[in-house]
Amino acid sequence: MDRRPYVTLSCAMSIDGYLDSAAPQRLAMSNAADLDRVDDVRAHSDAIMVGASTVRRDDPRLLVRDTARRARRVSLGRAESPAKVTVTASGDLSADAAFFTTGESARLVYCPADRAPALRARLGGLATVVGLGTGDCVTMAELLDDLGEQRGIRRLMVEGGGRVLTQFLEADLVDELHLVVAPFFVGEADAPRAVGPGRFPWTPSRRAHLFDTRQIGDVVLLRYALSGRCDLGRDAAGATSPEDAPGP
Ligand SMILES: NC(=O)c1ccc[n+]([C@@H]2O[C@H](COP(=O)([O-])OP(=O)(O)OC[C@H]3O[C@@H](n4cnc5c(N)ncnc54)[C@H](OP(=O)(O)O)[C@@H]3O)[C@@H](O)[C@H]2O)c1
Repeated sequence: MDRRPYVTLSCAMSIDGYLDSAAPQRLAMSNAADLDRVDDVRAHSDAIMVGASTVRRDDPRLLVRDTARRARRVSLGRAESPAKVTVTASGDLSADAAFFTTGESARLVYCPADRAPALRARLGGLATVVGLGTGDCVTMAELLDDLGEQRGIRRLMVEGGGRVLTQFLEADLVDELHLVVAPFFVGEADAPRAVGPGRFPWTPSRRAHLFDTRQIGDVVLLRYALSGRCDLGRDAAGATSPEDAPGP
């Protein structure tokens, strides 16, 4: 377990618990100040993960935006941005996605073992395709084990979407949850929820530990410690030393 990366889940949802609307364009949940905070958490991570649906729908670049943060990473001998990680069962990922075409950091695509050869052929040298397991899906536990043991990832930031977040939470693999609540409702049955139905480790008789709340403009950030590995004295970005500490 300790060789598994330290996992921070980070997402922004509406008051009624949606990550997005069902409309074609992505719905912006957060605000500029909070996106800057998220950038800081990214800058302190070794890898950032999103599910394949998020890659297809949002086409995220998953890069550290702030120049000073990128420079600091480089001064510490790291890549400008963390490695990018995604997971797919279908293999339906376009080589033109910004996930593959932007930035210089490593890109890892996890899929069931029998889908890996076709996906490698489709993506060429754009990513390392890692086939895991014999089933139709990859488990988040085996994915984390591979990240920790084979790829040297110590801190993983998982940014969504809901299906990926749900699996990490159900499997009790999360150390910290950073949940941002945006000040509006979505109210669409077809929109993606932050978390789907499941059997979660935190129940009315085993309550999660809320260790920080912060208003950031018109949104609120809630930080939960979900494992014994979560150091409550640590800053939101998970710095491990004063020198490594992120900005305010
Ligand atoms: N507000 C926020 O903070 C935030 C952050 C991120 C995303 N989002 C939104 O979330 C929505 C997407 O969320 P989502 O729940 O629909 O999708 P998602 O979690 O991003 O991705 C789900 C996809 O990931 C792959 N996958 C998931 N678990 C897998 C497993 N165990 N094994 C193999 N593949 C697996 C599958 O890809 P295949 O279909 O290719 O098999 C699955 O369809 C988008 O609307 C996006 O804008 C919002």
